[in-house]
Amino acid sequence: MQFPSFFCIFSLFLYAATPGSCALRGEILTTHHIRQSDEGPNAAAKRLGKIWFGSCYDSNYERDQSMMKYFNDPKFIGQLTPENSMKPASIQRTKSQYDFKGGDAVVAQAKKLGAKIRCHFLMGPDQNAPFIQQGSGINRQATLEYLDGYMKTVMTHFGTNCYSWDVVNEALTESGQVRTDVPWYRLIGHDFVEQAFAIASKHRPSGVKLCYNDFRLEASAAKLQGALDMANRIKSVGGEIDCISFESHISASNHPTVDSFTASLNRVAEAGMEVPISELDVVREGGATEAQQAAAYALAVKACLRVEKCPGVTVWGLSDSFGWLKGKQADLFDTAGRPKTAFTSLMGVLSSSSKSDVSSEEAEPQSQPRGSTVKIFSRSPHSVRRHEWYRPRSHFV
Ligand code: G3I
Repeated sequence: MQFPSFFCIFSLFLYAATPGSCALRGEILTTHHIRQSDEGPNAAAKRLGKIWFGSCYDSNYERDQSMMKYFNDPKFIGQLTPENSMKPASIQRTKSQYDFKGGDAVVAQAKKLGAKIRCHFLMGPDQNAPFIQQGSGINRQATLEYLDGYMKTVMTHFGTNCYSWDVVNEALTESGQVRTDVPWYRLIGHDFVEQAFAIASKHRPSGVKLCYNDFRLEASAAKLQGALDMANRIKSVGGEIDCISFESHISASNHPTVDSFTASLNRVAEAGMEVPISELDVVREGGATEAQQAAAYALAVKACLRVEKCPGVTVWGLSDSFGWLKGKQADLFDTAGRPKTAFTSLMGVLSSSSKSDVSSEEAEPQSQPRGSTVKIFSRSPHSVRRHEWYRPRSHFV
């Protein structure tokens, strides 16, 4: 699919209209950039040495017809993350039955596109099988045996269709401690993450990467340090971990600078692991403008481009009319399916970069002392009450 020249004209307009806030500040859009923006974000990311530009997806996205043209276009999407369908709550509603329908549909869509899949997830704070979610009634040994059987069955079923598995999701507090408010802590104890990775390492299909996935790793140095410490603990008990992914649900008015974001990604890269940006979206709160949102999308993409071990950026949905932040204007396309400034800006970064700009950059110096929390990011990037893993503001002080 050729992307409408509308994007290009709009880019030029945007650049002229908001030079102070646009991602392309200081750069001049040329016909070279304009031609390249016809590539689509996945094709552009690949040209720059990345493995993908992707989005979350499940078969219910077919209802959003305005976006399906992008989900069917390999120039646009090169990676899918099942938004809900591969979570234990979807796969195992009862103890004796596995339901792979939703996950298989994502695999089929990815095959059609030639896209990678970040399989998501095996153990999380919520959306576990109902009998696990209760957090009681099974002892440690029985829970570990259950987990062994679950991971074996699910990892075998999806096999090498997964580029990676998020083995554990969101197991850390803002200060980098292991969460005690999740069922796995109550059932297994303090080492539930190490146990999960040890079991996943046993059953991983050849070449499939094992990841830890969490939010605010770009913003909280203490939480990032906690994730790195956790990776060391996993390895010290013989488990394997290949990636720490940054969800990056960020806010248009309150996000790290590109240097700080890059430095955080680099901490994982320096520890020898891949570091995808796995669930990017940008909420506009407190009167944040569309230009601020666009700048935030652009800087996250720039940060990934600067870090060789960042395989790509995945957005958590494409349009404001669909998905978990429906109605909150957090995505790249508006409710009518039109590209927003955010999309033009993200595309502008990709189109205006060349491979030599991005692959030879050296690690940036630490912009934050290890183990400290950046004070200005002292709260959750956005509060969505129905998702309890976003703690109340008072927690982040
Ligand atoms: O499937 C039921 C449906 O049967 C029922 O009628 C309906 C009524 O509310 O609920 C449906 O389940 C919803 C499910 O999404 C599928 O649509 C749940 O209520 C809803 O809570 C669930 O939200 C998902 C959320 O994870 C759960 O924590 C979001 O779609 C999904 O985008 C979100 O994704 C998470 C990542 O996995 C981890 N990182 C944060 C990210 C954003 O919250």
